[in-house]
Amino acid sequence: MEVQWLGVEFPRPGPPHRAVGLIFSMLLGAWSAQALEMLVGKIPFLQAVNGSTVMLPCSYASCIGIEDLYFNWQFNDNGTMQKVCDSVIASETSVPKVAIYRERVEFVGMNRANNISILLWNITFEDSGEYTCFGRNPKEKGRNHSAIFHLLVVDELKVVDNTLTIMIASAVGGAIAALMGFMLLKNFTLYVLSKLEERNKECLVTSSGIDNTENGLSGSKADSKPTPKKK
Ligand SMILES: *[C@@H]1O[C@H](CO)[C@@H](O)[C@H](O)[C@H]1NC(C)=O
Ligand SMILES: *[C@@H]1O[C@H](CO)[C@@H](O)[C@H](O)[C@H]1NC(C)=O
Ligand SMILES: *[C@@H]1O[C@H](CO)[C@@H](O)[C@H](O)[C@H]1NC(C)=O
Ligand SMILES: *[C@@H]1O[C@H](CO)[C@@H](O)[C@H](O)[C@H]1NC(C)=O
Ligand SMILES: *[C@@H]1O[C@H](CO)[C@@H](O)[C@H](O)[C@H]1NC(C)=O
Repeated sequence: MEVQWLGVEFPRPGPPHRAVGLIFSMLLGAWSAQALEMLVGKIPFLQAVNGSTVMLPCSYASCIGIEDLYFNWQFNDNGTMQKVCDSVIASETSVPKVAIYRERVEFVGMNRANNISILLWNITFEDSGEYTCFGRNPKEKGRNHSAIFHLLVVDELKVVDNTLTIMIASAVGGAIAALMGFMLLKNFTLYVLSKLEERNKECLVTSSGIDNTENGLSGSKADSKPTPKKK
C-alpha cells in the first residue's frame, strides 16, 4: 500500500517491509543531502606564530538553498563559548552586516561563494583554541550545524617544524626499517620453513626407512642394493 502511495512499482518477490525500508533510506539520504553543511577546510587546524594574522576559514553549503541563514563564530574559552561574531545572511548573493564581539577580528568572507571566513589580527597566545563555525537555516526548521577549527599559537614555527620533520622522518624511517625487518623476517621464516620441510622430508624418508627395516621388508632391499654395487 505504501508503495502505491508513492507511485513506485516494486517487484513483488521480497517481503513488503524491505521495500518500505528502501524507500525510507532513500528519503533519509535525500534529506541529509539537502541539509546545511558548515565547512572549515580539509585540514581544520592551523599553527601560527604569536603576532601574526591568520584566517579562520569557513563556508556553507546547502542543496535547498538558504534564506535568512543565521551564522556565528564561537571561541571555546576554557569551556564557555564566547561569541566572536554573528549575522544573518538574507540570501546567497547578499553581503551581510556582521556584528563583531571580539577584538582584532575582521569578517573577510563577505558571503562571496558562501564564504564566511574571518581574519584574526595580531594573534596572542590567548587566541589558541577551538573556533566553532555555526549555522542555522530556517528552511530546515532550526536544525543546528557547526564545524570546529583549531588554532594553535606558538612562539616559533621553526622548532615545531623541525620536530615535526624529525618525527615524520623517523616515522618514515621506522616504517621502512619495520618493513625491511618484516621482509627479512619473512624471508628468514620462509628459509627456516623450507629447511624444516626438507628436514621433515628427510625425517619421513629415514623414518620410513626405519619402519621398513623394522618391518623387515626393506632388509632384503638394503641387502640387495649393495650387491649390484659390488658387481
Ligand atoms: C611572541 O611572544 C614572545 C614571548 O612572549 C615575544 O618575545 C615575541 O616578541 C612575540 N612575537 C611576536 C611576533 O610578537
Ligand atoms: C579553566 O577552568 C578551570 C576550572 O573550570 C580552571 O581551574 C582553570 O584554571 C581554567 N584555565 C584557564 C587557562 O583559564
Ligand atoms: C596589528 O599590529 C600592527 C603592528 O603592531 C598594528 O599596526 C595594527 O593596527 C594591529 N592590528 C589590529 C587589528 O590590532
Ligand atoms: C574566503 O575569503 C577569503 C578572503 O577574501 C579568501 O582569502 C579565502 O580564500 C576564501 N575562501 C574560499 C574557500 O574561497
Ligand atoms: C540550536 O542551537 C541553539 C543555541 O544556539 C539552541 O538554543 C537550540 O536548542 C538548538 N536547536 C537544536 C534543534 O538543537
